[in-house]
Amino acid sequence: MKNFKLAPSILSADFTKLGEDVAVCEKAGVPWLHIDVMDGIFVPNISFGTVIYEKLRKQSELFFDVHLMITEPERYIERFIASGADSVTFHIEATKKPMECIELIKKHGKKVGVSICPETSVDVIREYLDKVDMVLVMSVHPGYGGQSYIEDVNPKITEIRKIMGNDFDIQVDGGIYKENIKSVVDCGANVIVAGTAVFKGDIKENIKNLEAAVCVQ
Ligand code: DX5
Ligand code: ZN
Repeated sequence: MKNFKLAPSILSADFTKLGEDVAVCEKAGVPWLHIDVMDGIFVPNISFGTVIYEKLRKQSELFFDVHLMITEPERYIERFIASGADSVTFHIEATKKPMECIELIKKHGKKVGVSICPETSVDVIREYLDKVDMVLVMSVHPGYGGQSYIEDVNPKITEIRKIMGNDFDIQVDGGIYKENIKSVVDCGANVIVAGTAVFKGDIKENIKNLEAAVCVQ
């Protein structure tokens, strides 16, 4: 399997000191930053748009992993890339034009992710698997941080790993804490999103604990 990567989700960060908190993550050695964009239509919550990270881009070397929870993502993909996204992940349930989304992201040389909600089966994305760089398996209903992990998604992670082999990114997002991170990685995930588990309390300590929990034999 590809190396394990922790991707803190800024949805749970303190926005009054976002730059500072992101710098703490970067200093702690995390490779990715997960950026959750919600439109209030595809999901019942509104988060933020490009404005939240385009200035961060100038002060951070982190890989900016943009998770679009918006309907018809093809309308906005290029704006998110222009603002500094390194990867863009769209939801298969949110678009009638998945190939257009994939091509738009690839055209700009960025990594493509496709995401499935907890109820969506792997069959729905099967034909796109060899065209994307990453699958994001949602382990909560998209829209909010701080929810509980839905164990029923585990067989999907294992199934995708079996189909795609070890040299492929499988990201899991939602409800992951130091207590269950290892079991998610053991299912076959190698990119782990964590919002609450990183930003609630001492960020540096939290990151250390999450990484240590994965390394336990
Ligand atoms: C949910 C978002 C997640 C969320 C994870 O819609 O996509 O990235 O921030 O938050 P936690 O880790 O708190 O479940
Ligand atoms: Zn997310």
